[in-house]
Amino acid sequence: MRFRVYRTETGGDHRYDTFELDPPSGMTVLGALFEIQERYDESLAFRYSCRGAVCGTCAMLINRIPRLACRTQVHALVKGEEPIHLDSFLAIEQKEIDWDPSTEVLVEPMPHLPVIRDLVVDMDHFFTCYRQTDPVFRAAGPLPEEEQPMAQKEVEALEIYTACILCGACFAACPVNGQNLRYWGPAALAKLYRFHIDPREAGDGSRLATADVPDGWWACEFHGNCHRVCPKYVPPNVAIGKAERELRERKKES
Ligand code: SF4
Ligand code: FES
Repeated sequence: MRFRVYRTETGGDHRYDTFELDPPSGMTVLGALFEIQERYDESLAFRYSCRGAVCGTCAMLINRIPRLACRTQVHALVKGEEPIHLDSFLAIEQKEIDWDPSTEVLVEPMPHLPVIRDLVVDMDHFFTCYRQTDPVFRAAGPLPEEEQPMAQKEVEALEIYTACILCGACFAACPVNGQNLRYWGPAALAKLYRFHIDPREAGDGSRLATADVPDGWWACEFHGNCHRVCPKYVPPNVAIGKAERELRERKKES
């Protein structure tokens, strides 16, 4: 199997290196990158930590779709059974490479973030957007003396969003993030919505107001790529839609 891997060069240029591997069944793209490093080129740079789809650090563009390298099996990629279909986004349209998806695996850094080296991107902008939401729990009043269990339904409503591992795949797949550097992006907005619906917080709309700006909730165009690529099935588009609806209602009432 042939791997086409994005490599940076000095002066801001890049090239694609080709590596031939015979991956065993079950090998992941991350495993293939380790083998490339060991057998062909130890200078190949990529990021990882947990190797178990938990830390979110190994997200990269694999066959033109942002995904976790540690969770993506190489044989599934070339079988032509691509389960993810995305609305087109600029960073993908602009890249021209002679690549045959039926026999080759294409590995590139995530779009919409600056490349540091090879497959490693600078996540600073993603986390700056995330921090704009003040993503820490703010209790509505004084902390109770005793444990106050939440209803199962309330826990489930939050869990949809707390599952996020901050991998940035949604940010990389979002057509709006590709066009508008100021857009907060799906992960940040999903997290903000998670605090808005937390029954232990004030629920006074202040969380919604935080992103009630042109580059917050209102910049989303509902392409849905964020939900389609999310390895944890978080639906930021759903959160954003609900937030917009609630904001409109609150404004009508006031
Ligand atoms: S919402 Fe999903 S795709 Fe986006 S950062 Fe979180 S885990 Fe990754
Ligand atoms: S290495 Fe942690 S999510 Fe892939």
